[in-house]
Amino acid sequence: MNQRKRKQTRLQAKLAKGSGIERLMDDLGRALAEGAGHVHMLGGGNPAPIPEVAQRWRTLMREMLDSAPERFDRMLGVYDPQQGNGRFIRAVAKLFNDAYGWGLTEDNIVITNGGQTAYFYLFNLLAGEGEEGLQRILFPLMPEYIGYAEQGLHPESFIAAQSIIEELPGNLFKYRVDFDNLPWDESIAAVCVSRPTNPTGNVLTDAEVQRLHQLCTERGAYLIIDNAYGAPFPDMIFTDVQPFWGENTVLTYSLSKLGLPGTRTGILIGPPEICRAISSMNAVAGLANGNVGQSLTLPLFESGEIMTVAHDEIRPYYQERSQRAVQMVHEAMDGVPCRVHVSEGALFLWLWFPGLPGGADALYEDLKEAGVLVVPGHFFFHALPEPWPHAEECIRINYAMNIDAFPEAMRIMAVVVRARFERD
Ligand SMILES: Cc1ncc(COP(=O)(O)O)c(C=O)c1O
Repeated sequence: MNQRKRKQTRLQAKLAKGSGIERLMDDLGRALAEGAGHVHMLGGGNPAPIPEVAQRWRTLMREMLDSAPERFDRMLGVYDPQQGNGRFIRAVAKLFNDAYGWGLTEDNIVITNGGQTAYFYLFNLLAGEGEEGLQRILFPLMPEYIGYAEQGLHPESFIAAQSIIEELPGNLFKYRVDFDNLPWDESIAAVCVSRPTNPTGNVLTDAEVQRLHQLCTERGAYLIIDNAYGAPFPDMIFTDVQPFWGENTVLTYSLSKLGLPGTRTGILIGPPEICRAISSMNAVAGLANGNVGQSLTLPLFESGEIMTVAHDEIRPYYQERSQRAVQMVHEAMDGVPCRVHVSEGALFLWLWFPGLPGGADALYEDLKEAGVLVVPGHFFFHALPEPWPHAEECIRINYAMNIDAFPEAMRIMAVVVRARFERD
């Protein structure tokens, strides 16, 4: 059939031209479809299959079928309101109020089809051409989540700031917000951080979050905190920090890293005007949200058990693996210029090879050829006004997939990295 000749729309150029996140999902999907035996899957953001947690989801589904068939029928047969399921929303409000005394009402919560969709709506709600000129989102701590990169429909939706690199003993390092050099101006409508940060596993301290919030309050901007890996669920945080809530704050949570990415459930907590707007966007873009995740986990939210599952089952699982993985990286990379970002949370390790010849993409290709899938670091340095050579020296690996195969993957990686340094 002849393809109809047509001009590319701006939206097509922006959203359908291919992107880092698409390549990442594609690599992940292909590798999983072909069977994980062929490759060491250290790319992607899939959570680990934790047997006890997976068993819990099976049990909850069985209980719903056996003891609450009307809830099961409702889950499959009824569109939820665009804000989300009322009972689930009330349970979320109560959970946070009981734990932290935040005083949330139903007006502070809206459900979306996953955190990713929440960000697409949120960024395009807040950034773009406004009545008084351009509005932008500031990412104050680069590198930052690859999935934000292409989400702003306006070409100048985002501005990012280079971080300070703090080198630490034991071949470790940590990024810090460069508070003195943040590119603040009238256009900044919101500041956005993921906490823990994907890709680095950095966790902003309570003091850093408070300082960001104060800057936002002084300048009339929203502070957006992405808790995809955060507390109190899934609680993949290994440092001693508290969840934050304050004026003009927007928090997002997700059921994905609890082991339920297939349910596509995002939870946004924010000021009522933001929640109302996101509800409206839900209706326009998709009528209603998928409600399987909300129905399945409802008993755990109503009882508060979701917090103990996260704290006692999910957090220790990742913390233990992260420590082992960091040790394995150091052992394998002995003699190779390799620094590891301190692993304070999430399910990734962020590796920095100072002076890496050829750049991160070339290393990614070499590693793929050798059967190890990673994510090249430069994708995570989006919206920086000036290129940062450091971006070409880093990669992200997911340590959660198969810890038994991890030493072999690191052995291959060390051979490949060494060859890169020796070749050029
Ligand atoms: C930091 C961060 N935010 C948001 C998301 C989106 O997750 P989901 O749409 O599955 O809730 C992810 C997924 O990996 C993430 O890493």
